[in-house]
Amino acid sequence: MKKIIVTIDGWSSCGKSTLAKQLAQELGYIYVDSGAMYRAITLYFLRNHVDWTNPEEVHEALENISLEFVFNPISDRSEMHLNEENVEYVIRDLVVAEKVSEVAAIKEVREFAVAQQQQMGKGKGIVMDGRDIGTVVFPKAELKLFMTADNAVRVERRFKELFEKNPNISLEEVKANLEMRDYIDSNREVSPLRKAEDAIILDNTNLTPEEQFKKALRLVHDSSKAMA
Ligand code: CDP
Ligand code: CDP
Repeated sequence: MKKIIVTIDGWSSCGKSTLAKQLAQELGYIYVDSGAMYRAITLYFLRNHVDWTNPEEVHEALENISLEFVFNPISDRSEMHLNEENVEYVIRDLVVAEKVSEVAAIKEVREFAVAQQQQMGKGKGIVMDGRDIGTVVFPKAELKLFMTADNAVRVERRFKELFEKNPNISLEEVKANLEMRDYIDSNREVSPLRKAEDAIILDNTNLTPEEQFKKALRLVHDSSKAMA
């Protein structure tokens, strides 16, 4: 079957990366979690006290950032490395989530990340999830999905994940963070979160990961056949 590009965009915590990973594994494609790149950049800015309202500081900081996805055979997945340090787990903390949307709204930060994302998709056979993948990164992708789920369901799912790592976290904090990020992500000037015109909506409020995977896999097969 012809290799294609699959883009998965949508709101925070609506199952994008769960689906992207399943599809990539089934198809033997590369999986890229573009959000991890924005999270890693934010982590660098926080650790190095970069004033991201100052374009010169942003420019200088980006020159010192190297991002790489490195496959870890133990977790059986690619993990985000920032300047050769594995930051896959620390970038999921709420401290990073509180600031990532501000950082991701900066034009130069987006140009830095998008150039690398486009490079990764050169050979096709890639599933990438994020906010602007179908609209900006790969506007000509063969299959574009836009995922959504009810707010309360999304909050509950993310809360469960974070609570396992930190039992001090509250549902209200998680809810506020998702709402804030969705607001900033969809209202920013540069590459706001939008459904691409040709994207297919996948609402997984009442779907298990397995059910959403089956639906999406069918769509991938249809798109690959249409190309042949
Ligand atoms: O997993 P979750 O939905 O919580 O978020 P993520 O995919 O890890 O993305 C974290 C943040 O990075 C988002 O809230 C956006 O601010 C930003 N992001 C973006 O602007 N563009 C992308 N393509 C991916 C993420
Ligand atoms: O990547 P994104 O932030 O959109 O979401 P995710 O990290 O893939 O999913 C957030 C949580 O929802 C994970 O714990 C998934 O296991 C869970 N999930 C679910 O319960 N049912 C689905 N249909 C999809 C995801």
